[in-house]
Order: sequence, then C-alpha cells, then structure tokens
Amino acid sequence: KSIVILISGRGSNMEAIVRAAIPGARIAAVISNRPNAAGLAFAAAQGIATAVVDHSGYPDRASFDAALAETIDRHTPDLVVLAGFMRVLTSDFVRRYEGRLINIHPSLLPSFTGLHTHRRALEAGVRVHGTTVHFVTAELDCGPIIIQAAVPVMDGDDEAALAARVLVHEHRIFPQAVRWIVEGRVSIDNGVARVAGAR
Ligand code: GRF
Repeated sequence: KSIVILISGRGSNMEAIVRAAIPGARIAAVISNRPNAAGLAFAAAQGIATAVVDHSGYPDRASFDAALAETIDRHTPDLVVLAGFMRVLTSDFVRRYEGRLINIHPSLLPSFTGLHTHRRALEAGVRVHGTTVHFVTAELDCGPIIIQAAVPVMDGDDEAALAARVLVHEHRIFPQAVRWIVEGRVSIDNGVARVAGAR
C-alpha cells in the first residue's frame, strides 16, 4: 500500500510510522505545508520523497487544497495520513480522500476537539486524557474512531508534562492504526470504524 504522510512541524508521529516499518506499507512521500518543518529532514534522510506545499502562497483554502491534492495524487496513495498537519481541510478535499484519510488528535474524542487540547483538559479538571486516531470527515475531529489510548492526569501536571505523557501513546497507536488499515482489517459501518479481530 502506498502511503502519503502530511506534516506541519516536528514530525515525530510521521517518524514513528516510518520506523515501524509496517509490512506491506510503503511511505511514498512526506508533504509539509511549512517549508521549515523539522520532520522533512528526517524523511529525506530515510530516502523518502518530500515536498512542500506552502499554504501562505495561496489566496484561499480551496486553491491550497487543490495544489495539495495534486501533489498527493502524484503518489497514488491508498492512504493519506495527517500527522500533526495543522491546516483545516475543505470538504472537497476530505470527500476526495474519504475512507482513506486518517488523523491523530491529542485528546480522547469526542472531548476536546480543536486546538490546545492538553491545556483545556487541565482546565476542565478531567482525570483521564489521551489521544485518538480517526478517519477524517468534513466535521473537524469528528470522524470514525479507529484506536484510542488513555493516560491519567496527575496532580501537578502542566501542559508540557501532560503532552509528553500523551505523545508516547501517539507514537504507539498511530503505527498500529496504519498497520490495521494496511492489513485490510478496518471497515466503517454506519459511521463507526470496526477493526476485524482486534476487539
Ligand atoms: C501531536 O501531538 C499531534 O497529535 C498534534 O500535533 C502534534 C504533532 O507532533 N495534532 P509531531 O509533529 O507528530 O511531532
């Protein structure tokens, strides 16, 4: 299966997926919307094709998304992975990749959609927090859930400490979700993702 990974920055989730060396998965390209994304260097060093589609060079979301889709489609991906990709995508873009577009979100969805999830979890006083890998649908952070991991919130946690505790699990569950999809075990039934043999 051909996989294209989209990043915006550090790229540690992309790195975890690459390092997992999933049988049957070929990382065809890593694409960033920011020219200075640190993750691009890691991808290039692994011999993976990289590209930048800089959102600041486009007048609106539709034209950026069209350019992004064109760059992605050169690699004819079976799966497009949003790994810390920090742009909201148009519904046209989402529809084009429906069922083969996944994202990682740093909260236990449906709690804390959107930005600053760790800060908001601390402010809300939740005792359990975590991360979710889900299919992307037109509504932000709302698509079918493939896998989640929960972590405790500890007394004295600040945003950085909580983010670090969650990140360890992001690096575990994201490759797991990709593996399940590559193995053909994930289906969507009435808006709910099912993983054959996993639970
Ligand atoms: C991750 O915490 C991801 O869940 C969030 O942004 C962060 C990206 O980190 N959306 P990285 O670029 O994968 O290191």
